[in-house]
Amino acid sequence: MGDNQAHFWLGLTTGIAVCSVAFSVYTGMVLHQTLTAASKSAPAQTVVSKAGPAQIQFQQDDSPSSETLERLHSMFTINSEKLNQIVKHMIVEMRKGLQADGQALLMIPSHVVNRPTGREVGSFLALDLGGTNFRVCEVVLDGHSGARVRQSKHTITDAQKHMPANELFDFFADCVRKFLIEGFVNVPRGKEEAELQARTWKLGFTFSFAVNQTAIDRGICVYMGKGFVNPGIVGSDVVVLLQEAFKRKNLNIDVQALVNDTTGTLISHAYIQPSTRVGVILGTGTNCAYVEKMENIPKYKGDDAEYAKEMIINMEWGTFDDEQVVIPRTKYDKRVDRTFNQEGKATFEKLISGMYLGEIVRFVIVDLVKNGELFLAGGSPELNEPRSFETAFMSRIERDHTLDLNDTRSVLEEMLKIPRTTLADRRLVKTLCELVGKRSARLSAAGVAAVVTKMNKLDGCTVGIDGSLFELYPHFSNRMRDALREILGISAENIVLEQARDGSGQGAALIAALANEGN
Ligand code: GLC
Repeated sequence: MGDNQAHFWLGLTTGIAVCSVAFSVYTGMVLHQTLTAASKSAPAQTVVSKAGPAQIQFQQDDSPSSETLERLHSMFTINSEKLNQIVKHMIVEMRKGLQADGQALLMIPSHVVNRPTGREVGSFLALDLGGTNFRVCEVVLDGHSGARVRQSKHTITDAQKHMPANELFDFFADCVRKFLIEGFVNVPRGKEEAELQARTWKLGFTFSFAVNQTAIDRGICVYMGKGFVNPGIVGSDVVVLLQEAFKRKNLNIDVQALVNDTTGTLISHAYIQPSTRVGVILGTGTNCAYVEKMENIPKYKGDDAEYAKEMIINMEWGTFDDEQVVIPRTKYDKRVDRTFNQEGKATFEKLISGMYLGEIVRFVIVDLVKNGELFLAGGSPELNEPRSFETAFMSRIERDHTLDLNDTRSVLEEMLKIPRTTLADRRLVKTLCELVGKRSARLSAAGVAAVVTKMNKLDGCTVGIDGSLFELYPHFSNRMRDALREILGISAENIVLEQARDGSGQGAALIAALANEGN
């Protein structure tokens, strides 16, 4: 053995010896800490350790009570059989909605009868009012399935969700005016107004609320939701409201198309993936649009019925099961339904979308604290504040894979100011988020399964999906895929769920382009 090797072996054995001493000291400390910590916390389960010769008895406070867990599981789990019933019921409701107006599923004809070829060209404006933000976009379509987008984004305040329609639409027009002027290049200072007057623009308006669409560029708003209660919007033609605001602000803009975000998503995804037949939004709200054969839309009496083979239908699936016949709802879901506007409306959406999931979880947590099943040191005024538990917190908690659930601790103790949480508490909250998040994904999958089955597309099609839940919520897409497999069996492999992007901007511009081609 050479000198170097001898040093190596000596070093290695000394290292092992030092490590094993350190390890025994460490294990001793951990055991001591476990015992002391356990003896401090009560009530907790008693666990008998069979590790040593003398049996050690200690209290374990790391696992939530199995009784509580079982109760929550049975409340929030939707099994395969139920999923299948939901699918069947949705297909029945889809047929009814296509037959006549005034049904639970609105099944709104979008008046969009063409899908893009990817060869569309031109520059279009797009406005996007979705829920949380208002965006102004300029989209330049390059004719090769590509687009350049410039945009400005504005958060919609609570006050704006309450102001009269004209004031809100004046705000939109002001944003557009500013955006256009900012985009002027090579226009001398002081000449912006003249340039503005000399030019005209074509625009697609994404208005992501239920609208009874009477033409590609006409539609009466029938229901808003998402916290919007502006007097003067429901019952009005939103294109007229926008066009009048442009007039008041001296803007030469022609609104060519009124678009739902789901229709925009379908079209913008079809621009890059021609097998796309379905567009879904899973975000603040949820909804779906798909391509339906014209002969299957008996209630549609427009001119297009004569020559067009198909039309995109905006399902407004958020209101599915408003008559409450198929989806089991917990007392917490009912509480959320009562406390958000429009009680009894948007049943499906209230169980699925980002606007509501956090509040469902909060109601359960508050109840568990009241029953002494969680946070023995008590809750907090922040936790009792309506809507304080954001759906983004659920994402963060579900993404927390640390041993001690440290990120969950930050959410609970730092953001919600819960005085003290145990590992068992944090595990319980994490399980609760998983249950509510999983139920949302499984219900969304049931919706997609119903649509592809109704379309007879089980042999293959692409579903473009946009929205923060699908994009950012951990495991959401995998959970949807699992549920699709449970419902559709092997055919689920033919249904491709893909992240779609910017249907509300690019999609609206494309629909304006398609509408323009038809003129
Ligand atoms: C709501 C709206 C619907 C929209 C969806 C997603 O359900 O009623 O039109 O598509 O939210 O934004």
